[in-house]
Amino acid sequence: MKSPILSYLEYLHAEGKQNTAGAPAAYIPELGRVSPELFGISLATADGYTYEVGDARHPFTIQSISKPFSYGIALMDQGFDAVDRKVDVEPSGEAFNEISLTAGSGRPRNPMINAGAIVSTSLVLPEAAGRYERIRAAYSGFAGRDLSLSQEVFESEQSSGYRNLALGYLLRSFGIIEEDPSPIVEDYFKQCSLEVTCHDLSIMAATLANNGVNPISGERLLTDDVVERVLSVMGTSGMYDGAGNWITHVGMPAKSGVGGGIIAVLPGQIGVAVFSPPLDEHGNSVRGVEVCRRLSQDLQMHFV
Ligand code: DON
Repeated sequence: MKSPILSYLEYLHAEGKQNTAGAPAAYIPELGRVSPELFGISLATADGYTYEVGDARHPFTIQSISKPFSYGIALMDQGFDAVDRKVDVEPSGEAFNEISLTAGSGRPRNPMINAGAIVSTSLVLPEAAGRYERIRAAYSGFAGRDLSLSQEVFESEQSSGYRNLALGYLLRSFGIIEEDPSPIVEDYFKQCSLEVTCHDLSIMAATLANNGVNPISGERLLTDDVVERVLSVMGTSGMYDGAGNWITHVGMPAKSGVGGGIIAVLPGQIGVAVFSPPLDEHGNSVRGVEVCRRLSQDLQMHFV
């Protein structure tokens, strides 16, 4: 017999398909070439059960959904005080690419906007093979499989990402970044260009729901206090200038990416992932936001 959870997801998928609002991101040229029809939903429970419908195994780039994971790795590597000195935890209420640096100190408002995320990347301790390889290996642990780069998206982003490069140089001028910013921004572009599927993202989200332990592999990636911090910042800032509306209507920590992915986390219980490329004015997937809102309402997942 088909699981009632799967039947429910099929219903949400069929309903979500009717919504054709929004458009795929075009400011990274390669992302503008993705089919707006693609649409997948995955759920993973904190005890390792997974459910999926639609294009849940179609690869796309993780983009800003990388930010909470790199922030978590930076906290594990450097500790809370060192990270807090370089990036704040206040919602900016501004767009993801805003030059949102505190006057005087240059400290980005939070690690979910690009400025703060570039700082998190700079704080990840490189392994022998380099900083990006460390990030790639850690994300692979969260997903439970070996992730790899979309070379096309990386090159597309690198050849058009002047604003992020400018943010890197500004952060260097304030001393928030203490080395040459250009390889750090390059590693940030690579982290954003790692390919995942909705299925992978649901397991990454379920790892956060399961207090930092991948529920399928059993590997511990983050400590409890780091997960608590990461989820708090996702709750206040993960959806950028749409964060207030999100927390009011969905009530779960979440993170979106301009590749069309969204993750949401019900601590102790479930990781949700949705993939649908058309975005709203905040850079969040239109269908992704709607599916999460319905899930939260129907399954009473609204917990804050
Ligand atoms: O830095 C950028 O602009 C992209 N690599 C990531 C932006 C993003 O995903 C914003 N989220 N919705």
